[in-house]
Order: sequence, then C-alpha cells, then structure tokens
Amino acid sequence: MKNDLTVRLRLIADLSRTYAVPGSRIIDVGSDHGMLPVYCLKNGIFARAVLTDINEAPAARAAAAVADNCLSDRAEVVCTDGLDGVDLRRNDVVVMAGLGGNNIRDIIARIIQRDGDILKGVTFILQPQKSIPELREYLSANGFDISDEECCFESGFYYCVLCVKYTGVPYELTDRELYYGPVMMTKFGERKEYKEFLDRVYSVRARGDKRIAKVLEEPYG
Ligand SMILES: C[S@@+](CC[C@H](N)C(=O)[O-])C[C@H]1O[C@@H](n2cnc3c(N)ncnc32)[C@H](O)[C@@H]1O
Repeated sequence: MKNDLTVRLRLIADLSRTYAVPGSRIIDVGSDHGMLPVYCLKNGIFARAVLTDINEAPAARAAAAVADNCLSDRAEVVCTDGLDGVDLRRNDVVVMAGLGGNNIRDIIARIIQRDGDILKGVTFILQPQKSIPELREYLSANGFDISDEECCFESGFYYCVLCVKYTGVPYELTDRELYYGPVMMTKFGERKEYKEFLDRVYSVRARGDKRIAKVLEEPYG
C-alpha cells in the first residue's frame, strides 16, 4: 500500500508533505475511501489523522480503510458536515479534495466564525471539482493567502490544487487571476497544457458569460 495513490491523490499527498511539521495532523474532509490519510500515515508523512465524511456509507468506508490498515490508534473517523465538531489545532493540514468549490467555501465560512485565530496556523489543501474561480474569489475576499497552486492530469481530466493559509487580511484578485490562478499563472511556462485546457473551457463559456469574455479579450502578458 506504499505507492498506490492515483496521480491526483499523490499530488495532494506530496503538497501536504511540504506543510507537515512534527505533530501535524492530516484532516481529510470528505474522505470516502480514506486512501489519502491511510497513505500519509503509512508513509510517515503525518503521525495522526482525522477523516470526516457527511454521509454514512463513505464514512463507514473510511473507517474500514483505517481498520484494515491497523491504523485505528492513529486515526479518528467522524461522520459530519465538513469540520463540524472537529477541533482544529495549530499545524494541522486540512485537505478538501473532490468536493465542489461552493461546498468547500461553506465549510470554511463556518470555521472562520468558530476558529478565527487557530486558523492562522492551519494549512488548507483544496482540490475543488468545480467553481474554482468562485472559490478563489471567496478566499481572497476573506483573508486566505494562496501560497501555491498545482495541477495534474488523470483519466482524461485536469485537476487544480490550491494551498491556502488564513491571514485574516482580505485582498483583491484580478478577474484573470480568479480564472487562471494567481500562482498557476506564474507556472504556465511549464504547465502549458493546463493553460490550453483552461483557454478551451473558458472560450466556450465566454459565449454566455461576459466576465469570462472580458478576461479572454484582455492582452495576456
Ligand atoms: C468525490 S468524493 C472524494 C473522496 C476523496 N476526498 C477524493 O478526493 O478522492 C466526495 C466525498 O465527500 C463527501 N462530502 C461531500 N460534502 C461533504 C461535506 N460537506 N462534509 C463532509 N463530507 C462531504 C461525500 O460524501 C463523498 O464521500
């Protein structure tokens, strides 16, 4: 079970590793099969994990993955919406992968109210399935710094992953940064295919969306 993550989950595990310090826990929200935290525990990236899922069947799958890998003493599985009922600690790395951007936004909005100051010591690794520009807009307007962005291609789909830290200081992103990603834009030299994929998606959407149409009309430096 050492190397059996998919490309997308492997990218998320690798990014999580860069934010882990001794004592960090991985909190995997919407864990389902539990493969990511199981991999991280088995490979020594984190010593402890919390797995949450809103639905009973996936939460049971996550619990089975933990038990099957003899990790029950290092991992807790909670059937809950987002992080409701889960206490965050400094240096935690929270992963939300495979959820919609608006769902991620709502989960984060509830914890800002609850955990404002602790959040400054927590890293969020977010892989929204959709509504990525909307999520970036929410994050910037609510004081989350986007420290890194990465992408990968798996089974015919591109995925984007955002690494985010709460500072409490809101800022504005340009429309181009919202759609293409403020950090991702700096990597387009090496991530040409992902930019071309976004160009194709947005040129279709631009037909019915003036905001995207305007972004595409602007000269690209
Ligand atoms: C597509 S799966 C993703 C599984 C895994 N995170 C991955 O990336 O491969 C989405 C999972 O998130 C769970 N989920 C959706 N909304 C949630 C929420 N608000 N809180 C917790 N879990 C949620 C679903 O029940 C489902 O098991």
